[in-house]
Amino acid sequence: MLNQRVPFDGFSLSCSGDALNYSLPWLSIEAELSGPDRDTVLAGIAQIQKGDYFAREAQNFLQQLSDYPASYFAPRKGLGREASQARMEEPPGCTTPGAILARVGAPYPMQTWMWDLGRIEALSQVDEHVFDPLSVVSYLIGKRLELEVLTDPYRAAVEQKFDKLRVFDEGTLFELAALVIRQTHHITSSILPILRIAHEAHPRLAESIKHFMDEEIGHDKLMERSLSHLGRKDPATIPVLPSTAAMMKLFELAARHSPLAFVSCIGMFEGSSYPDSDPLADLLEKTSIPGAAYGYKAHFKINRDHNHKDEVFAFAAALPALSQEELTLGVRLFELTARASQIMDIEINQEIDRTITSRLVR
Ligand SMILES: [Fe+2]
Ligand SMILES: [Fe+2]
Repeated sequence: MLNQRVPFDGFSLSCSGDALNYSLPWLSIEAELSGPDRDTVLAGIAQIQKGDYFAREAQNFLQQLSDYPASYFAPRKGLGREASQARMEEPPGCTTPGAILARVGAPYPMQTWMWDLGRIEALSQVDEHVFDPLSVVSYLIGKRLELEVLTDPYRAAVEQKFDKLRVFDEGTLFELAALVIRQTHHITSSILPILRIAHEAHPRLAESIKHFMDEEIGHDKLMERSLSHLGRKDPATIPVLPSTAAMMKLFELAARHSPLAFVSCIGMFEGSSYPDSDPLADLLEKTSIPGAAYGYKAHFKINRDHNHKDEVFAFAAALPALSQEELTLGVRLFELTARASQIMDIEINQEIDRTITSRLVR
C-alpha cells in the first residue's frame, strides 16, 4: 500500500468551472478537469477541502500530484522503535542556534529557532516519543521551500544582472560566473568525503549511500571543466563564500551525528523539482564561451535523467523510527543547513553588487 499523504500547511485548493488550482507559497499547479476520472477528482477535492485527507479519492488526488512538492507523508502505522544501529559520536549541543553556528564558523547570527518543533512532533508521531522519519523528512522539504521563497528575489536578481553583464561587460560576467560555479564545485567536491563519513556512521543507510556515491562521483570534475573554459584552471584560486563553507560543515556534522538531518540535506542538494533547463547554463551558452555552460548543463541532465530529487524518499524510508532526541537534533541541524543555503544566495548577490560597483567607480 502507498504511504498516505497530507497537504502541506497553508495549501489552497480551488475549483472554478473546469479549472483547478492547487497552490503553496512555492508552487502553483493549474490543471483542467476533464476525462473519465473527472468525478473521482472532484470527489477527492471535496474531501480535501473538508479536511478528510485520508479518504480514498483524496489520497488518489494527492498521489496524482506526487511529482511536485505538494504534500508530505502521514506517519506510518506500526512503525516500531528499533534499537538504533548507528555508531554515533557525542552529538553537538543544540539548545541554541549560536552554539552550532560557532562550531562551524558561520559568520552570521541566528538568535532563535525558526521552525515549530511541536508541530513537527505532532504530525510525525507514531507512538509516545516515537516519530516517523519519512513524515519528518517530507515535511521539512516544505519548510525548506518556504525559506527559499524568501530568497527567490536574490536568485532572480542574480539572473537579471548576469543577463545585463552578458550584453555590456562579458569579462565581468565570466569572473562572477566563475565565483558561482566555484560554490557548486565546493559543494560537489565535499559531498563524496561526507558520504563516506555517513556510510561509516549509519549502517542502516549503507546500501543507499553506496548507490548514491556511485551516482555523485566526478561531479566536481564537471565544474572544473566549466571553470577551465573560463580560464580558471585552479578552482582553489576562487573564494568559497563563508555561507557555502558553513553549509558543508553543517552537512558534515549531520553525516556524523544525525541520519535525519543528513537525509534532509540530500533532499536539499538534489532539489524538489526540475525546470526545463538550468538557467545559468542557458545564459552561459549565449556568451562567447558557450563551453562554460558544460558543467551545469551536464549536472542538470544527470540529476533529472536519474530523478535524483526522489532519492531523499528512499533514504528516509530506510531510516529507523526516531526518538525525541534524534528528532530534535535532526530538525535543528537541518534548519541551520537550509538557512546557510539561503544566506549563500544573499552572499552571492552581494558579491556581484560589490564587483559591479567597483568596476563602475574605477
Ligand atoms: Fe551531483
Ligand atoms: Fe545528484
